[in-house]
Order: sequence, then C-alpha cells, then structure tokens
Amino acid sequence: MKQYKIVLLPGDGIGPEITKVTKNLLLTVSNTYDFDLIFEEKLIGGSAIDTFGNPLPEETLNACKNSDAALMAAIGSPKYDNLTRDKRPETGLLELRAGLELFANIRPVKVWPSLIDASTLKREVISGVDLIVVRELTGGIYFGNPKGRIGQGNEERAFNTMTYSAKEIDRIAQIAFEISKNRRGKICSVDKANVLDVSQLWRDRVEKLAEDHRNIEISHLYIDNAAMQLVRDPKQFDVILTGNLFGDILSDEAAMLTGSIGMLPSASLSSNGPGLFEPVHGSAPDIAGLNKANPIAMVLSAAMMLDIGFQEQKAAKALEEAVNNVLKDGFRTKDLMNEGCIELSCSEMGEKLHNYLPKF
Ligand code: IPM
Ligand code: MG
Repeated sequence: MKQYKIVLLPGDGIGPEITKVTKNLLLTVSNTYDFDLIFEEKLIGGSAIDTFGNPLPEETLNACKNSDAALMAAIGSPKYDNLTRDKRPETGLLELRAGLELFANIRPVKVWPSLIDASTLKREVISGVDLIVVRELTGGIYFGNPKGRIGQGNEERAFNTMTYSAKEIDRIAQIAFEISKNRRGKICSVDKANVLDVSQLWRDRVEKLAEDHRNIEISHLYIDNAAMQLVRDPKQFDVILTGNLFGDILSDEAAMLTGSIGMLPSASLSSNGPGLFEPVHGSAPDIAGLNKANPIAMVLSAAMMLDIGFQEQKAAKALEEAVNNVLKDGFRTKDLMNEGCIELSCSEMGEKLHNYLPKF
C-alpha cells in the first residue's frame, strides 16, 4: 500500500479546530482509496514561540524536509505584535517557505455556484469565475536585502529591497506557462513596470519566455489596474502571474470573489521537494476556540495535497465533491451564512462533510 508522511502544522488561532476536521476527513478518504497516511504534528508560529521561543523550531523544519508534504492551518495572533521581527509568527512561515524553497505559490479561485450570493459582488460579475493566482513566494520585497531600520526619532528610517533575478522570474513564469497549458491558455502578468526597475526586468523576462509559448496568450497589467480589473470583470482572468507582494494582495482580493476568504486553498511548491499546503486565510484570533471557523479552505488545501503532492486524484475529488454537495444543500459556516441556509459550527461542518463523502 502506498504510504505518505504528512507534517501537520495546526499553528495558531482557529488552526487547531480546522486541522482536526481536515485530519479526520483525510483519514477517511485514505481508507476508502487505499493509501496510508502517517501524521506527525509540529509547532509553528505563535504556538512554537510559546514553547521554544522560536516561530520555526529546527525540528519542525527538519520534519517538513523529511516528509512527503506539510499541511498547515494558520499562524499569527495580536499577542505577538510587539515582538521583534525574528520572533514573530509570520517569520516562522516565511522561514519555512524559504527553508523548503517553495518558490511557487498556486492559489486557485473558483466561484462555487451555491455561494454566489455570499459574495459582496454582483452575481453576474462573479458567476463562472475560475482563475489561478501564481505567486512567486521566496523572493521579491519579502526577502530582499538590505532591509531594516536605522537612526532614531525623527531621523529614523526603514527600508526593504524589492529584487528579482532573471532566474527567479523565469522559474515562476515557467510554472504559470505549464499551468495555463491545461487551462484556457491565457496568462496575465502583473507588475509595476511603469515605476519599478525590478518590474521592468520581470516584464522583459516574461515577454522573452512568451516567445517560446506562442499558443499562450500573454498580457501585462500594472498592479493598480489589475486590482481594479479583478473586481470590475474577474472573468477576464485565467492565470495571473505575479511577484510575492502583489500576489499577496491580489489573492486576498480574489478570495472575496468567492464570498469568503474561508474558501481559498493554496499549494506552495519547490522544484522537487515536499510541498506546503495551506489555506489563504489567517488564524482569525477573534473567533479562535469558539467552534465558528470555516474549515473548508483547509479541507480544499488537503485536496490539493492529495492531487498535486501525492497524485491521489480520486481521493482529492472526493473531498471537493463533499464540499460542493454540502454547500449545494445549504449548509454553511457563519462566514458564509445567507438567508434560508443552515448554520453549522466548525465541527458540525466537519461531520457534515464526512457524511457527504462518496461511499463505496
Ligand atoms: C499569505 C499571508 C502571509 C504572506 C503572511 C502570514 C506572512 O498573508 O500567505 O498570503 O504575507 O505571505
Ligand atoms: Mg496574504
């Protein structure tokens, strides 16, 4: 029997609640589809700071390196806002991305027909939206040097460096080209080439690669225009290719097309090592421990792990179908509630999804 080693990273806030739901569903589909999952739970983010004084303990990174995939829930809490940057939960996640060389972040944004009315946008604008944000994840202004704060008082100054090498741009663009081949064959590359040198290089490299992919339609948008187009007419997008910071912003914006950020999964991939699968949303400290969280983004991240990470497409499909049918029958967590629907807690949503898994 095939066997996969998963490092579970529940993290902070609502993380443990949604992890519990997701793990149970994974165990069930692994039984149904005949593979073995071995789970190892590790600390990251605030919970790791509390125990080890470090948001990414070495044993967590090592366990991830030795796994077939890492499945994370969410990290962060206002409790750590005053810590120095190296001790903040977010730094743990960034170090994990860097440590596993997860340069490619894939964030699919699909509007579920039954959730159309949960979005703040008009039905006709979002119905049929199906796009993927391909975000560079280990470079750009998130990781550029020099960075820091110098001076004191009114003389204090802070700076970061936005930098990309041609190689970094090429390898993420290649991923976008590969993905778009199996889709509608359209890539929109997003930059700020009218102002930034780093974006000019980005655009030059993407255009150069486009010469080898004549069957793919390439367009370029500046980030400000892209942000506007994404709410004006999201259906024009198929694959959005962009850098780390712009991708961070656009993917939250794109999440709202689906009604709730609680619906969006993501996969972060390296060229050959284990991937990291995680919801796009954060740790929602305001509802942590209240059993109100929406576990669906993590369940869908687990589906991406089965699909992309393990090639267990049938099991992945089973999770997606359960989500689709539960929503179709009107079951919702609080963030998705709409008139006439039935509100479920996080754990009840887990049970409901379980009942909706295809049976054999
Ligand atoms: C995301 C998050 C992270 C990011 C934070 C938590 C560091 O917002 O995955 O989009 O900025 O990349
Ligand atoms: Mg973000």
